[in-house]
Amino acid sequence: MATLDLNKITKSFGTAHVLHGIDLAVRDKEFVVFVGPSGCGKSTLLRIIAGLEEASSGSLVIDGVDVSAAAPVDRGISMVFQSYALYPHLSVFENIAFPLRVQKLPEAEVQAKVGRAAEILKLTDKLPLKPGQLSGGQRQRVAIGRSIVRNPKVFLFDEPLSNLDAALRGDMRVELSQLHRDLAATMIYVTHDQVEAMTMADRIVVLNKGRIEQFGSPMELYHHPATRFVATFIGQPNMNLVPATVIGAGAEGLAVEFHGGHRMTLPVDCGSARAGDKVEVGIRPENVTLGAGLTMKLRVLERLGGVSITYGDMPDGMRFCAALPGDTVVKEGEEIGLAINPADCHVFDANGSVLRRRMAPALAA
Ligand SMILES: Nc1ncnc2c1ncn2[C@@H]1O[C@H](COP(=O)(O)OP(=O)(O)O)[C@@H](O)[C@H]1O
Ligand SMILES: [Mg+2]
Repeated sequence: MATLDLNKITKSFGTAHVLHGIDLAVRDKEFVVFVGPSGCGKSTLLRIIAGLEEASSGSLVIDGVDVSAAAPVDRGISMVFQSYALYPHLSVFENIAFPLRVQKLPEAEVQAKVGRAAEILKLTDKLPLKPGQLSGGQRQRVAIGRSIVRNPKVFLFDEPLSNLDAALRGDMRVELSQLHRDLAATMIYVTHDQVEAMTMADRIVVLNKGRIEQFGSPMELYHHPATRFVATFIGQPNMNLVPATVIGAGAEGLAVEFHGGHRMTLPVDCGSARAGDKVEVGIRPENVTLGAGLTMKLRVLERLGGVSITYGDMPDGMRFCAALPGDTVVKEGEEIGLAINPADCHVFDANGSVLRRRMAPALAA
């Protein structure tokens, strides 16, 4: 068992207020990812959990025990950093064994624990080698091995894959997900990469300027982003935000008019929206097909094979992106019509808050 509760955690460095009251409850065996732009406070929050940094206020509870004042070694956590922090002169075996040597465990126990970690991480035949003889991905696995042998209650990862090339990052994502399943451990993983967050997390914490924008499952964030920030941060290519004016609000939803005059009724809860209000309509590139509706002049076409990403300008100069099937017959410079299903649209008010979608796909339990 390892639950983790953060209660109103704040952090300031002098006059710089970095975290503004973080409340979060992580479940046992959950893989939670902190994602957000560089500088939003992810590492600071993780370091506070690890005990490497002291919160300015608030408390941290692991497994029901308040550890706010506990030393890092007494928290039952283990952290893996982006820089692997391996000892170059020690073998892979001794690098993994390092925390056990510090604890002065008997040799047989060290052998057993390192052997088991190496097996899980497919490093058994690398144990006699030095870190310099390993690839980047293998070195990262050694660093993770050093975490595993400590048998922590909670694993913490701070951008562990950032130093790897794209292909290897993809492989390591899969391995880390598998590792999470094999160890059945609670894990908190920090990244600025929304693809890592979407692919690995049970639940994602989206951080922005030291505040939690939203905490939810990947598909919850995708279908029900609570804010404009989350909407544009999650999903690739990024969601389009098209300005529109409200022309009516009723039982069937919100009627809007785009700059070009195109009108749609969007099935959302209208809240206090009324005719004349300015809103932004969020349209994901993958929800667009060729057809009647909005129009854009195609500026750049990226053929990725299975999908063709098109970037263009709408009549009022707004940029727009549509992801069309790979073989779609379109050319750069051409005017194309874009059909949009109203049920796929997101609507954000002037404060960036979402009007709840009524017809979004049901979420898996
Ligand atoms: N030791 C420190 N002293 C002063 N400011 C810091 C310190 N550590 C982090 N910060 C500031 O706190 C903010 C959040 O940093 P950080 O948590 O590292 O962000 P992230 O990991 O999301 O990129 C940044 O503006 C950073 O400059
Ligand atoms: Mg960081």
